Amino acid sequence: MTMTDYGFDRRHLLGIEGLTRLEILDLLDRAEANVEIGRQANKKRDSLSGRTQINLFFEASTRTQSSFELAGKRLGADVMNMAVAASSVKKGETLIDTAATLNAMNPDVIVVRHHASGAVALLAQKVDCSVVNAGDGAHEHPTQALLDALTIRRHKGRIERLTIAICGDIMHSRVARSNILLLTALDARVRLVGPSTLIPSAFRDMGLEVTTSMREGLKDADIVMMLRLQRERMQGSLVPSVREYFHYYGLDPEKLAFAKPDALVMHPGPMNRGVEIDPQVADGPQSLIREQVEMGVAVRMAVLDAVVNGRGARTEGSA
Ligand code: CP
Repeated sequence: MTMTDYGFDRRHLLGIEGLTRLEILDLLDRAEANVEIGRQANKKRDSLSGRTQINLFFEASTRTQSSFELAGKRLGADVMNMAVAASSVKKGETLIDTAATLNAMNPDVIVVRHHASGAVALLAQKVDCSVVNAGDGAHEHPTQALLDALTIRRHKGRIERLTIAICGDIMHSRVARSNILLLTALDARVRLVGPSTLIPSAFRDMGLEVTTSMREGLKDADIVMMLRLQRERMQGSLVPSVREYFHYYGLDPEKLAFAKPDALVMHPGPMNRGVEIDPQVADGPQSLIREQVEMGVAVRMAVLDAVVNGRGARTEGSA
């Protein structure tokens, strides 16, 4: 039995890949306990009191950066949001030099978003503190997958045996990758739905159900998880036009009717209304999109507390 058979006790959270089922469930249970804190008038706790958290975002973010900031502050940490656009990164400073500079200020945790897959893991090797991946390229976005799982579990009571359709631009989505890893680890039935140009063949090889038809993919689905069409990451023309994409893959009330009557709709944000999702569905009674944002703070509180205060924080080399 390894240390992680007892729950999440790592120094860093770099991805869902490699986490055990028990570690994932442990983080979800800890996050569950934080939901109530966020709904109280007094949201302040002290488990990170005196600790320093640096948010280092090389890519734009609304939800992830603000919820990591709130999560750290609710736990009592001193939180510094590094203004990358106004930093020496703009003068050519490398990621590693930036990391070494911040490390010299003795932070306890650095939360990193970067446009390159693998950049966060590289940075974690160069600093003495904990590192949390807030999204690296098309690789992973582990706290998004955890908050999605928490949202699903609170509504459906379980993850196991649910049919979850992940739809749209899977190719460029770190959210899809982390969700596929997490949901299959918890024994959900995951289906991938989208144009064949946007579904990497590796997922077929993993034994996942893959279809290009929304009718087929949404049939009997408990959860319909829509993804943003990431045109900024596309090289060449992978979809004919936005209008055509919406016609075939945009989630509107007619397509949602293919799923179970009590199916719930999710989207990690930011949404492109009228591209991958119809506003009627995004704002409709089956949508969990706002609640996903609330769960994000609870999950990030759990993750920050675990990496900073866990045994892993004091164990060299525990990834
Ligand atoms: N879901 C998500 O990562 O959103 P942001 O890019 O706004 O952080």
